[in-house]
Amino acid sequence: MASTFGALSTLVALLPAIATSIPLVPRFVSGNGILAAYDYVIIGGGTSGLAVANRLSEDSSKTVLVIESGPIDDGSDSFKIPYLGRGYQNFGTKYDWNVSSVPSELLGNRSIIMPSARVLGGTSSINGMQLAKGSASDYDAWEELGNEGWNFESLGKYFRKSENFTAPSGKLVEEFGITYDSSAHGFTGFIHSSFPRFLWPQLKNWVGAMKSLGHSVSKDPANGGALQLFWSPFSLDPDTQTRSFSREYYDGAQGRPNLHVLLDTTVTKLLTSGDKSVRVDAVEFSSPVGAPKKCVKVKKEAILAAGSIFSPQILQVSGIGPAGLLKSLGIEVVVDLPGVGANLQGHAYNVIVYQMTNVSLGALNLTTNATFYKEMYELYKTKQDGPFTNNGANMVAMLPLSDITSDNLQNLFDAPSKSLSHQDTSISKGYQAQLKILSRRLTTPNMAATEVLWLNEGAMIFSAMHPLSRGTVATTSSSLLAGIPAVDTGHLTHPFDPRIYVETLKYTRKIIATSEMRELGIMEVTPGAGASTDEQIEKAVRDLSNQMYHMTGTCAMMKRELGGVVDKDLRVYGVRNLRVVDASVQPLIPAAHVHSTVYAVAEKAADLIKAGNLWWK
Ligand SMILES: Cc1cc2nc3c(=O)[nH]c(=O)nc-3n(C[C@H](O)[C@H](O)[C@H](O)COP(=O)(O)OP(=O)(O)OC[C@H]3O[C@@H](n4cnc5c(N)ncnc54)[C@H](O)[C@@H]3O)c2cc1C
Ligand SMILES: *[C@@H]1O[C@H](CO)[C@@H](O)[C@H](O)[C@H]1NC(C)=O
Ligand SMILES: *[C@@H]1O[C@H](CO)[C@@H](O)[C@H](O)[C@H]1NC(C)=O
Ligand SMILES: *[C@@H]1O[C@H](CO)[C@@H](O)[C@H](O)[C@H]1NC(C)=O
Ligand SMILES: *[C@@H]1O[C@H](CO)[C@@H](O)[C@H](O)[C@H]1NC(C)=O
Ligand SMILES: *[C@@H]1O[C@H](CO)[C@@H](O)[C@H](O)[C@H]1NC(C)=O
Ligand SMILES: *[C@@H]1O[C@H](CO)[C@@H](O)[C@H](O)[C@H]1NC(C)=O
Repeated sequence: MASTFGALSTLVALLPAIATSIPLVPRFVSGNGILAAYDYVIIGGGTSGLAVANRLSEDSSKTVLVIESGPIDDGSDSFKIPYLGRGYQNFGTKYDWNVSSVPSELLGNRSIIMPSARVLGGTSSINGMQLAKGSASDYDAWEELGNEGWNFESLGKYFRKSENFTAPSGKLVEEFGITYDSSAHGFTGFIHSSFPRFLWPQLKNWVGAMKSLGHSVSKDPANGGALQLFWSPFSLDPDTQTRSFSREYYDGAQGRPNLHVLLDTTVTKLLTSGDKSVRVDAVEFSSPVGAPKKCVKVKKEAILAAGSIFSPQILQVSGIGPAGLLKSLGIEVVVDLPGVGANLQGHAYNVIVYQMTNVSLGALNLTTNATFYKEMYELYKTKQDGPFTNNGANMVAMLPLSDITSDNLQNLFDAPSKSLSHQDTSISKGYQAQLKILSRRLTTPNMAATEVLWLNEGAMIFSAMHPLSRGTVATTSSSLLAGIPAVDTGHLTHPFDPRIYVETLKYTRKIIATSEMRELGIMEVTPGAGASTDEQIEKAVRDLSNQMYHMTGTCAMMKRELGGVVDKDLRVYGVRNLRVVDASVQPLIPAAHVHSTVYAVAEKAADLIKAGNLWWK
């Protein structure tokens, strides 16, 4: 195995030049100039990266550098206002990496857009703000997979550490019956967790309908029982009714002279040395993109926080990944690690669109009546109230398998998965271990198989929460700057998943057949009457399904012989001083929108890093 030390020594010689060649403002947003070396270099100033940066820089004797590819956001409404942020106005702008998946025949030959933020604060700056955890079983499954110490109980401390919960107002509790359990929350964290001041009245019809079908309301999703029906909190500042996001970790640490952040700077490679014992000596970057490459030395650790698509790509172009892929692109193999970029899991979703004939005032009026829109915008600007405080799905239904079908689908757990055939045997071993765990847990009432959300405009979104399909992320070039990696979502490649979608769609028809929903004069428009047999529904699902953008798993925390990339201390196998701390380490996606889990994992990661525990020790 080769090292890149030759290239490194040339680059290190250039280091003193960096301090004067990089303008201090705004690219260098903190500190008096970049140092030649830092104790910790964090790659990606996103959701997880800034959380870890804040915690590591609490120790003033340690120097921390964050390198972020994007700029600071411009503070516009599309970032701040919940209703507009939910409209995803930042897709395809300069704040988006513009990722799309490779077209899949199983999705009607479509490619799916996969927005991924390129901005300080990362994807927490543009996401849907839903902040509920998964159920206890979702996290206990991580420990069962071999990750000692990673279970719901022990993660609880870190969920609470990241959070500052504010209970809903008495008015909302009275009118809508919102329930919560304060004892399950934290109150001193950087991320606000609260409820919008306004809810649409039609939500009552949906809640009534779900209760009439026998679903109970869980007191609070934070206490491990995120199942059946529950009120979801949002990453929302309760006073200003604006988005709360990872930038607040940075803002809370801004005065620290030991924390430096480099914006508009793309990491292009990890420079390593050593044979049997590989070490990251420096991080190479281009600032801005296209400028000659420079590098910064790593005294203690390099920390990858570039997200589920880019962390595996950075590893791959640095020679850490599946040897076959690396060799085919002329990349020198530093560590043969087949799991890098494998095990991609996401929540595909489908939307059902309804027409409602008996709604005198609802969310659709915002799109059809410009005067009303203007009035409500003014209401938000002056009083921080009204529909602009609300980003959508307030009451969540997380349903176990037995709620949507009487078949436990046991035969489908044994079906072969097409997507794994070309990968290393360790990957299929790990996948089999996951299947074994899921086949048992998913057939109990303690793990959700499907999620159904009501959108006030007159739509439901539904999604398989524990897909058995797996996708991949693979760089297409030895140069990171040559383009985004190939992302194969793998969606609907395993027969279990389409079955969940078909059964859930049929279930939504039971929901709208209740008297509570009929009162709205509701009628399904899409996919509609053309999708009635199971086959027709499955075709509609394949043609219409999209993404909730919860990509996880591509640098999975699992045993190496199971295709894992990091161990239970989040250390990359085969490298002495490299960890991954972002969504990519989640080995099995939880039945939840994943960013509260990203924060909890990042908080725990910071403690693991502080504890030391490098491979060489
Ligand atoms: C549209 C959308 C809606 C969502 N809605 C929700 C929701 O409602 N609730 C929920 O819980 N989750 C939601 N999610 C998912 C959730 O926001 C993400 O899973 C989470 O924010 C990911 O955090 P991360 O730290 O892994 O990555 P990110 O937050 O994406 O951070 C990665 C950072 O690394 C930077 N980076 C990447 N490559 C490089 C490089 N080479 N050099 C330097 N920097 C680099 C990026 O620019 C980015 O800032 C949504 C996601 C999207 C896209
Ligand atoms: C994404 O596309 C938009 C519009 O085409 C462009 O302005 C932006 O720079 C692109 N972003 C990236 C990271 O390439
Ligand atoms: C997808 O593309 C392939 C190859 O072009 C074609 O054979 C197939 O019929 C297409 N499938 C769909 C559903 O359009
Ligand atoms: C938590 O949020 C409340 C409401 O905005 C705020 O008053 C309080 O200061 C916050 N607590 C911390 C520790 O930031
Ligand atoms: C809202 O839309 C409904 C249906 O189109 C309409 O009857 C009603 O008058 C609208 N109300 C407002 C305030 O625009
Ligand atoms: C549009 O909204 C305004 C303000 O709420 C209302 O007075 C008006 O009747 C609405 N127009 C229609 C066509 O519904
Ligand atoms: C229309 O909705 C109102 C409540 O908003 C309800 O009282 C009425 O019965 C509904 N009409 C029909 C036909 O269901």
